[in-house]
Amino acid sequence: MRTVPTPTHPTPTHPTPTHFTAARSTPDRSALTARLRAAGCVYAEDEASLLLEAADDAAHLETMVERRVAGEPLEQVLGWAEFMGLRLVVAPGVFVPRARTGLLARLAVEGLGPDARVLDLCCGTGALAAVLARDHEGIELWASDIDRAAVGCATRNLPAAQVRQGDLFDALPPSLRGSFDVVVVNAPYVPSAAVATMPREARDHEALVTLDGGRDGLDLQRRVIAQATGWLVPGGRLIIETSRGQAGATLALFSAAGFDACVVLDDDLDATAVVGTTGRGTASRG
Ligand SMILES: C[S@@+](CC[C@H](N)C(=O)[O-])C[C@H]1O[C@@H](n2cnc3c(N)ncnc32)[C@H](O)[C@@H]1O
Repeated sequence: MRTVPTPTHPTPTHPTPTHFTAARSTPDRSALTARLRAAGCVYAEDEASLLLEAADDAAHLETMVERRVAGEPLEQVLGWAEFMGLRLVVAPGVFVPRARTGLLARLAVEGLGPDARVLDLCCGTGALAAVLARDHEGIELWASDIDRAAVGCATRNLPAAQVRQGDLFDALPPSLRGSFDVVVVNAPYVPSAAVATMPREARDHEALVTLDGGRDGLDLQRRVIAQATGWLVPGGRLIIETSRGQAGATLALFSAAGFDACVVLDDDLDATAVVGTTGRGTASRG
């Protein structure tokens, strides 16, 4: 049996980086790029630039590179993600906002009044609310998520919004029932069995609660859609991201809940959403 010797010197926390020159002040960009490429990073040159820019020193760089080559998403390693021109704080385990979710942001602003009240439900980093806050200064923004780490990120990304932690609408004060002009939602919608087929970056480094939508992927959507009419103003809109293959089922849930709804596709973003409007005269702003 192999025994592990007790070290006589402290074990170095960071191995000597291979991409710093002997002077240790000039990073060896090409060695770093090669290392990232060998680990399967498709945009190795761009990633090398971002990591070099973010590194405080050689040890910090090495730590970040080790995390990246081990498969952690670049955004979690850097601590930020780009979304629609914004740089958002993203912590380990938190869902990294995807470009396709830009469709929800675009739909949410359609016809939005200057004093609208908007909820970003299942907000993750708060990416959607952050875009709305940037583009529509006067609106009242709420955001909520069940995951503590996500709420921590959203709180930092949304200094002017109300951010809450909790299960769907339970996170909100009941006094807000019937008061939202728009509820925008990117809830998990991957069927449980399909999570294992997702890229490693997602399945190993984004918490299961951010991905798993239950047996058919629609568990969260089903609950959101059933509850949403109670939180919207008459004529208010519920906007939910879904997949092309699930769009028909998502639409049927909206119709069953009494929404006037339609599917919106964006081929450029490879994005699908369902937008539903409540009937007028069914609820009143509280
Ligand atoms: C697919 S991620 C989307 C995050 C963010 N909206 C975005 O587009 O970047 C889904 C989010 O839903 C949250 N979530 C899952 N179940 C929830 C629940 N029951 N109540 C509130 N949030 C939930 C997860 O923590 C995760 O942040």
